[in-house]
Amino acid sequence: MVRLADEDDIAGLLEIEEKCFGKEKFSPETIRAFIERDDAFILAALEGDVIVGSAMALMSDLVKQGKVASVAVLKDFRGKGVGSALLGECEKIFESQGLKKYSLEVDTMNELAIALYSSRGYEIKGMLRDFYGFGRNAYYMEKKVGPSPMDVRG
Ligand SMILES: CC(C)(COP(=O)(O)OP(=O)(O)OC[C@H]1O[C@@H](n2cnc3c(N)ncnc32)[C@H](O)[C@@H]1OP(=O)(O)O)[C@@H](O)C(=O)NCCC(=O)NCCS
Repeated sequence: MVRLADEDDIAGLLEIEEKCFGKEKFSPETIRAFIERDDAFILAALEGDVIVGSAMALMSDLVKQGKVASVAVLKDFRGKGVGSALLGECEKIFESQGLKKYSLEVDTMNELAIALYSSRGYEIKGMLRDFYGFGRNAYYMEKKVGPSPMDVRG
């Protein structure tokens, strides 16, 4: 089951961060901000009462764009469609807010994440050199579901 996360989920979300990202995990303050802000949200994937995955996203009403900031699934639960379900639910929320373009950055070495995003229709549009620090590049990936205001002008 995938649902919106709230304050009571912070401990479980931090555990996902720690196990999936180690040193590069988001801080408790960042997790809290994503939950509290109107232009952001976190989704939690549950197995029983336990959070086994999460997705974090930002929304811009001005440019009608949704940004996926992270998707993470605990090792034992990978390869079973949890990541895909989380991403799909992010997109439903983007869609409900009238957002027309979804984007994300992903480490060029992160094959599993690139496979997940590609499988859901995201396309590599460019490379951001040293995005994660010296020598660690990111792909910028995008999925369009309609014309966005930023595309109207040449
Ligand atoms: C990336 C990640 C979220 C994928 O989650 P997941 O639950 O395993 O993904 P899914 O099972 O939904 O798989 C989605 C797609 O990814 C691809 N995929 C997943 N596991 C794969 C594997 N072992 N080999 C090849 N492709 C794979 C497939 O295309 C799959 O689609 P399909 O099932 O229709 O064939 C997970 O590996 C993870 O948490 N990694 C660590 C955190 C991370 O790097 N996050 C991304 C950056 S924020």
